[in-house]
Order: sequence, then structure tokens, then C-alpha cells
Amino acid sequence: MMKERPKGFKYIKASYNYISYYKDGAWDEGSLRSDDTLTISATSTALHYGQQCFEGLKAYRRKDGKIQLFRIEDNAIRFQKSCERLVMPIVPIDKFIEAVKKTVKANEDFVPDYGFGDTLYIRPFMIGVGNNLGLRPSSEYIFSIIVSPVGPYFSGPAKPVDMFVSPYDRAAPHGTGDVKVGGNYAASLNAQLEAKKLGFADCIFLDPKTHSKIEEVGVANFFGITKDKKYITPKSPSILNSITNRSLKWLAMHVLDLQVLEQDIFIDELDDFLEAGACGTAAVISPIASITNGTKKHVFFHHEAMGPYTKQLYDLLIGIQFGDVKDPNHWVMLLD
Ligand SMILES: Cc1ncc(COP(=O)(O)O)c(C=O)c1O
Repeated sequence: MMKERPKGFKYIKASYNYISYYKDGAWDEGSLRSDDTLTISATSTALHYGQQCFEGLKAYRRKDGKIQLFRIEDNAIRFQKSCERLVMPIVPIDKFIEAVKKTVKANEDFVPDYGFGDTLYIRPFMIGVGNNLGLRPSSEYIFSIIVSPVGPYFSGPAKPVDMFVSPYDRAAPHGTGDVKVGGNYAASLNAQLEAKKLGFADCIFLDPKTHSKIEEVGVANFFGITKDKKYITPKSPSILNSITNRSLKWLAMHVLDLQVLEQDIFIDELDDFLEAGACGTAAVISPIASITNGTKKHVFFHHEAMGPYTKQLYDLLIGIQFGDVKDPNHWVMLLD
């Protein structure tokens, strides 16, 4: 078992990572290795044309010491969608799941202890490799999985944060916003840095066509909870379909008895929302204290505390992920 607790999202090299090569139209068996560096051709499509995609999920240590994964099949399916969008070969669902399980099992000692909110972050990714000078899909690929113990996103109880509406776009209307490809993240770095320089926790991206509707919050989905018990989250083709948001929607509807809606959320019409949050694997939920749009500032529930519905959703989801709350929906996979 790990001796030292991980500090935030700083990379800590584990014992093993997984690697599988695609060549001549087929994946090899894949194997574990300890070297976490890659030697690839300088003409790899991943380096020049951004032909790469990734996923992010976690392994959780339960109170009884066992390790579990959360909604891994959904990550496998989303990974396939990202691969297809960038004309890369898909990884079969079973191969993806087996590779993740094998990698976590081999690094069992790096799955942090129960009780502190620490987890083993799992990063599957694919890159186009081989010799390719001109722009075309590569014929060779690497599918790899690296892992690292990580601490909880917040060191204490999740504190509401202030958000800034970015003038930049992260994805085009029919572009790649709905898949997890590196280009989206590179394109969002300046917006994030600018927001931080201005003293905000992160930025809100509006829809690229009209700049009037909320799309994403940094690298997380947005949700708001209204005075009349509605959980509302944006609907748009350029948003990443968050597995955390999908889980929260289910819990909001089936456990908290909220009405769940996916619809346009206009940045000028936030008055109905009592609570708001950003959701994703990394932080689960970052409650939003306020959103600043130009000279206008909208303040939500509280500057210090999570709103009551947000708190209930957060506790329920964390509880399921760490095995303290009964899994309502076959979301959890126990590592044998
Ligand atoms: C752009 C973006 N939106 C939303 C999310 C949240 O998705 P998930 O809940 O599946 O982690 C992520 C993180 O993966 C993301 O990168």
C-alpha cells in the first residue's frame, strides 16, 4: 500500500503501464511494462496533426480494502467514439476493459487507502504513430494506459468557486467538442489561463455560434438547479457527454425527485438557478459560487457552502464510487 498520500493531480509514476500496437490492420495482444516513455517516429500524426484521443477514469479503494471501477464501459464506448471521429481504429470494448483491469491490478499497491478521497487516476490514450509526412490517417497506432495516484480535487469540503465567461471558443458547432481529443484541450488553455489571471477558478465556454448559451465549464459539464426543483444541463452537439453528469442526472431524477431537463441555458437568464456546479471525473462536482460575464455577475447559492441539492448529489455519487452507498444501477465493477 502507498505510504505517502498523493498531492492533488501531480503525476506519480506507478510500477506498470499498458501498451498495445496496431499495425497491418490489427491490434497486438498488448502487454504491461515499467518504462513510461515512448519512442515514436518524429513524423507521427499525433505530433503534427493531433491524431490522438484519451479517456479519464478512476479506481476506488473501498472500506473493505477491495478496489472498484466506476462505469468503465461508458468510458470504453466514448473512447471508441473519439477514435472514430479522428479516423483511428477502435479498441474493442472487452480489450479496453481488460486492459484497464490488468493495469490497475498490476498497480494495486498504488491505489490509495480508503478514507481520504484519494484514488488511482487511469488515463487510457491512443496516438497515431509511424512515418507520415502528408496529412492522412496513420496506419499505425499505440493504445496505452498510464495510471497515477491522485488526491481529491479539493483538500477540504468542496468550496464554491467563481467562474468567468470566456470570449474564446473551445470547439466549433460541428467540430470535435463532443469527443475527447487533445486539440480541444490545447484550444482551451489560453481561455483557462486568462480566467485564472483574472482571479477566477476557471472559465465558462459559450456556444460558439451565438455566444449566448452555456456549453462547458473548463473541462467539465455545467448543471444548474432551479428554485422549482429542476436539474438542468445544457444540450448541444459540441459538449462532451460527461459520465459524471449522466450519473448525477439519474440520481437527481430517481433519488432526489428532481425534474431533469437538457435544454439551452442562456447566460443572461440565470436568475432561476439557486445552485450550479461543474461536474466531471476529476472533481466530481465543483460548486459554482458565481459567474461573471463582462460587467455582470450572477451569484448562486452561497460563497462558502455547497447548495443542499448539490451536496446530496455529491455525497451520493462519492458514496457509490467508494462503495459506501449501494450501487443502484450496475455502475460499479469490482476488481477480482
Ligand atoms: C470537456 C470535458 N467536459 C466534461 C468532462 C466530464 O466528463 P466525465 O464526467 O466523463 O469525466 C470532461 C472530463 O472528462 C471534459 O474533458
